[in-house]
Order: sequence, then structure tokens, then C-alpha cells
Amino acid sequence: MSIRTHYTDAPHKDRHDLSNIKRIVPFLWAYKGRVSIALSFLILAKIATVAVPLVLKEIVDLMNKETLVLMMPITLLLGYGVLRLLNVLFSELRDTIFARVRYQTMRDLSRKVLSHLYSLSLQFHLERRTGGISRDLERGTRAVSSIMNFLVFNIIPTLAEFVLVAFLLLGDYSVEFTFVTFTTVLVYVGFTLSVTNWRMHVRHQMNRLDSSANAMAVDGLINYETVKYFNNDHYEINRYDNTLYEWEEAAVKSQTSMSLLNLGQGSIIAVGVTMMMFYATQGVVDGEMSIGDLVLVNALMLQLFIPLNFLGIIYRSMMHSLADIDLMFVLLDKKSAVTDTENAQDLQISQGVVRFENVDFSYQPERQILKNVTFEIPAGKKLAVVGPSGAGKSTLSRLLFRFYDVDNGRVTIDGQSINNVTQKSLRNMVGIVPQDTVLFNESIYHNIIYARPDATKEEVYQAARLANIHDFIQQLPDAYDTVVGERGLKLSGGEKQRVAIARVILKNPKILVFDEATSSLDSHSEQIILSSLADVAQQRTTLVIAHRLSTIADADIILVLDQGQIKEQGTHQELLTAKGLYSRLWRIQLQEKNSKNDSSK
Ligand SMILES: Nc1ncnc2c1ncn2[C@@H]1O[C@H](COP(=O)(O)OP(=O)(O)OP(=O)(O)O)[C@@H](O)[C@H]1O
Ligand SMILES: [Mg+2]
Repeated sequence: MSIRTHYTDAPHKDRHDLSNIKRIVPFLWAYKGRVSIALSFLILAKIATVAVPLVLKEIVDLMNKETLVLMMPITLLLGYGVLRLLNVLFSELRDTIFARVRYQTMRDLSRKVLSHLYSLSLQFHLERRTGGISRDLERGTRAVSSIMNFLVFNIIPTLAEFVLVAFLLLGDYSVEFTFVTFTTVLVYVGFTLSVTNWRMHVRHQMNRLDSSANAMAVDGLINYETVKYFNNDHYEINRYDNTLYEWEEAAVKSQTSMSLLNLGQGSIIAVGVTMMMFYATQGVVDGEMSIGDLVLVNALMLQLFIPLNFLGIIYRSMMHSLADIDLMFVLLDKKSAVTDTENAQDLQISQGVVRFENVDFSYQPERQILKNVTFEIPAGKKLAVVGPSGAGKSTLSRLLFRFYDVDNGRVTIDGQSINNVTQKSLRNMVGIVPQDTVLFNESIYHNIIYARPDATKEEVYQAARLANIHDFIQQLPDAYDTVVGERGLKLSGGEKQRVAIARVILKNPKILVFDEATSSLDSHSEQIILSSLADVAQQRTTLVIAHRLSTIADADIILVLDQGQIKEQGTHQELLTAKGLYSRLWRIQLQEKNSKNDSSK
């Protein structure tokens, strides 16, 4: 299904999941101290565990000697109890010490992913699916935490325990035990590895489907209004459910194969244990072993196979976790299309001259959007761009912000190519009222002060006044605390635009971009704002994009952009006399205005 590939990333193909471990080790390494303390507690706990059956053997053997029947082996019994207690104590200490490592790493990693996401270019974010990414992130950090646990607490110690027990068991008893033990272990390991690896693709598939389903659900909910306008609830739910159905199939397959794996592992161990007990009983019957020996062999054997079985389970869970991490690492490996050059300096603005020099640009190679665009906005002047929809006007502002790199030519500010300065300093100096204002689902106050978090309350109010929205906000029941809803949808289009204007006024940048900044306003409000914007824009280099020509007639330079090319350039008067596209557009808009006036009389 094409939908799915569209919704999520493919896993790392040319790499085995195990290589993801390499990326987790450094996180552990950062906490060497804590990890080693936790490990010491773990070893102590293990020693206590292994000592228990040894003491038990002594007790059993003592009880068997007739002379001592009437005397209780008090010390041994106490020792037995203390050892059990120590085991618990050390295990808990270990967990307490390790908790910090675990949770701090989860935090570090989540922050790293988020900051990486912010460093990626707009291109990536226009294509991403929020719901899918949040799922990958959540699954990934959880998995990292469990892998660290596995590594430190399970794999290494269980292996150690395994070796220790094997040593005890094999040292003291006959070769049959050695043989049975080794064979069982080998068969067990071989079986586990091969079946687990075979199962991994199911896990990857499950994860992809899970992210897809989530991405669809979130996308649908974000567009709630549209879904309802077209009565498409069922369509959305079905799409979601179809993906979930595939997920269900994969999950059932995963569970079934896991049961088979467990069954296989259990059978191998059952056979091994039975053979060992068989030899041990034989030993007692033949008088070569004491009953205590029999008990010890049984206990050690269980202690040998329990960790072995555990290793099998751990290996499986670990492979699951590694699969879960994969999509997160795919994300972390994404490179940003726009990056600072190695020795990028901060942008220095003295006058604020903006130049586009022979700029070619395309979003996709097959379709060129801007063709050889050259213009200059002199310091402190106002340049307006007009032209039909899709001509590439908003693209100019995206290039000025360096959301994309130009294909040819360059964009400069006071002679510095924006490709050579830091993105941060560039974006500090430029402010925009975008064509579609989207707000955070927070209070109006938050949305305005977002431009400059250290601004004072009075500055925020002043900005709102200049944007002609202060009075409106004040008469809302919650005034500045009014929460604006998802993407600001609880405000009208014109209100949102004015919040955006207030925001840019507060930012107070050297260079201003207004992309249809007043298009949603009625003529009256527009006039009020235009005059305050004129104040704000004084002494600032300004790029204005507009459809309503009356709003830009006073611009110092007007560009007519059509299909990515500059067709005309000049002042309002010059362009009218030239009788080109601009004067045609002007006449049409004038007629519209007049007929409107006539009809309203
Ligand atoms: N991220 C993108 N990927 C591919 N094509 C894009 C992307 N963004 C815009 N375009 C295309 O680039 C062209 C120019 O877009 P732009 O937004 O600059 O138009 P505009 O002149 O601002 O139009 P309008 O007046 O309607 O706002 C459009 O045809 C649009 O489809
Ligand atoms: Mg536009």
C-alpha cells in the first residue's frame, strides 16, 4: 500500500539491529561511576545467590549424619537466612543507584531527538507526520532504557552467574554432567538465536504499522473541521482500522512465534535437566554421591538453566528493543538540508540592504519556481512584490529566512551572503507576518510575547495597541489569558493576523516581511493597521507582498512577479505609465472597488 510508505520511514536496511547497541554504550559510559557501583552490588547479590545452595548442601548432609540428629545446625541455618536477605538488599541497592542513569539517559536522548528535529530544515517538517514521529520517539526512549537495563543487569551478570555455576557444577562432579550441560547450552543458544532473528522482521513491521496508524489518527484529528465538512469520519476511521488490522495480524504472528520459541527453549531445558537428574540419582544409588550432592546438583542445575533461559528471554527482548529504537535512530540520522557553514559568523547589519542576485530556485528539481530573480531593497526602503497566485512571492520570504538554499545566485544582507552567516543571527534580524498565521494553543499573551520572551507587560500591550488588537483582547472574558485553540483556530482570521502583527512589532527586527499581512482584514481595520505599520516600518527595510494593490501604492519600489520572473519593476506611477501587467491589475481592482461603492450606495 502506497499510503504506508508515505507515513513512516523505512528501517535501516543495510544494518543489523545489533549495531544500534554501539550507539547506546556511550550513554552508559557517561555514568561510569554509578554503573560500576551498581555492578558491584549486583555481583554481591549474585554471590549471595550462589552461596545459598552451598549452605543448603551442608545442612542436608549434616542432618544425614546420625550423630548430629539431635543438634540443630544453628549457624548454618542463620547463614542461610542472612544470605537470602543480602541477596534482596544488594539487588535493591543496585536498582536505586542505577535509577538515575536510566532516567537521565532517557531525558538526554529525548532532548537530543527534539533538538535534532528543530535543527532539521523546513523541507523535512513539511513532509513529516507528527503522530508517527511522536510514536517513534516514545518507543525509542523506552527501549533505550530497557536495553541499558538488560546490558548492565541481565546480560553481563547472568553470563557471570552462568559461568560461576557451571564452574562449581563441573569442578566437583563427573564428566557426564559437563557433557550434558554443554550440549544443552549449545542447542539452546543455537535455537534461540536462529528463531529470534527470523522473528525480527515481524517486529519491524509492527512498529511501522503502529507509527502509521498513529500518524493517520493524529492527522485526521488535527483536521477535524475538514473531516466533518466532508462527512468523512468513517473514511478516516476505516483507514485507521485497516492499518491497525495489519498491525494486529503482525502482533498475533509475533506472539504465536514467541510461544513456539518459548516452548522450544523449555523443551531443550527439560531434556537437559532430566538427564542431569538421571545421572545424579544414579550416583547416589551407586554410593558415589551423597543425598546432599543430589540436592546441590538439582539446585545448581536450576540455577544454571534459569539464567540460561533468562538469557534467551533477554536476547529476545533486547532484539525487540533494538527494533524499537531503530526508527528513532533513523530520525537522528536525518541530515538537515540547510546547515551553517563551518566558520559561519553572526550577521552584522548596519544599514539593512537586502539583495537577491540572479536567484534560481526550485523546491523539486523538476519544477523551477524562481528564475534569475535580481532586485535590491535599499536600506530602510519598502519594496512591494505583486503578482498572480503561485508566482513565487512567498518563496522569496522563505529564501530570505533561509528555510531553503538557493540553487544559483545568492541572497545578501549588507553584502553578506546569508549562506555564510549563522541561521540564528539571520533569523534574529528578520521578522515576518506570514501569509497564514498559525498560533500556539496557549494564551494570547504567550503568543505575542513569544517574539521576545524578556519583554515587559507594557511592551506587549503597546505592540498589541499598534496592531489594533489591544482593545479587542481587553474586552474578552479572559483578556490576555484567552487561550486561542489549536493552531489559533478560536480566533478569526483577521484577529490572528493582528496577533501576528503585534508579535513582529514586539520582535522589532531590522528587516520586515509582510506576506499578505492584512489580507483578512476589512478595509477600515486595514487602514488603521497600515498606518501603524508604516510607523513601525520607518527606517526599516521592508518587503511587502500584497494582492490588494491599493495597500502598496506608496512603496518605494514595486516588483511584478509572474511565474518566477520579474516582469516589471518601478514605482506606482512609473508602472502605471508603462501600461503593463501592473496597470492592468490596477485598473481591474479600481473597477471592482468602484462597482462595490456603487452597489453599496
Ligand atoms: N514546499 C514546497 N514544495 C514544493 N512546491 C512548493 C512548496 N512550496 C511552494 N511550492 C510551489 O511553489 C510555487 C510558488 O509558491 P509561493 O508560495 O511562493 O506562491 P505565492 O506567489 O506566494 O502565491 P500566493 O499568492 O497564492 O500566496 C507554487 O506553485 C507552489 O505550489
Ligand atoms: Mg504566498
